Amino acid sequence: MAESIYISGVTKEEKYQSLIPQLTQLVEDEPDTIANIANVIAAIKFSMNFFWVGVYFVKNNIGNTKQELVLGPFQGPVACTRIAYGRGVCGKAWELNETIVVDDVDAFPGHIACSSLSKSEIVVPIVNSNKQVIMVLDVDSENLANFDSTDNYYLNKIGEIITNFYS
Ligand code: SME
Repeated sequence: MAESIYISGVTKEEKYQSLIPQLTQLVEDEPDTIANIANVIAAIKFSMNFFWVGVYFVKNNIGNTKQELVLGPFQGPVACTRIAYGRGVCGKAWELNETIVVDDVDAFPGHIACSSLSKSEIVVPIVNSNKQVIMVLDVDSENLANFDSTDNYYLNKIGEIITNFYS
């Protein structure tokens, strides 16, 4: 695997274009899913300088037959560990199976505030080969309206890389 990630480019798009091929190299020889997700998350966080980057896995709930989101590998301040279906931005992206971009988290009904420093966020559902959501990728910023169609496009590309190695 590559030992370091080198990001070239000035614009956000150029940085993503520099990052994405390196993510593929980062995971190509390693079969362990959690190790690969952890490295992908760290690479995104430190390449793009986001406030918080992590995944939540869809898992069986404790004590009943429902499912919920449970915190997985992340980089950033400590975060809430469990999120119910449909709750917050993450739970809503899971429910809708759609990427959600939130310019102002305080204006999003039901937003779960893990850190008061987080001002905007994007949540990308990651699906298996049956198109079922298996986890969500959550990226937060300290700036309002930090995420746009460029983040949407490239973070979905990263979601596809995770789908490809997830087992
Ligand atoms: N803000 C998220 C919760 C997760 S933290 O931001 C890490 C939400 O409302 O789904």
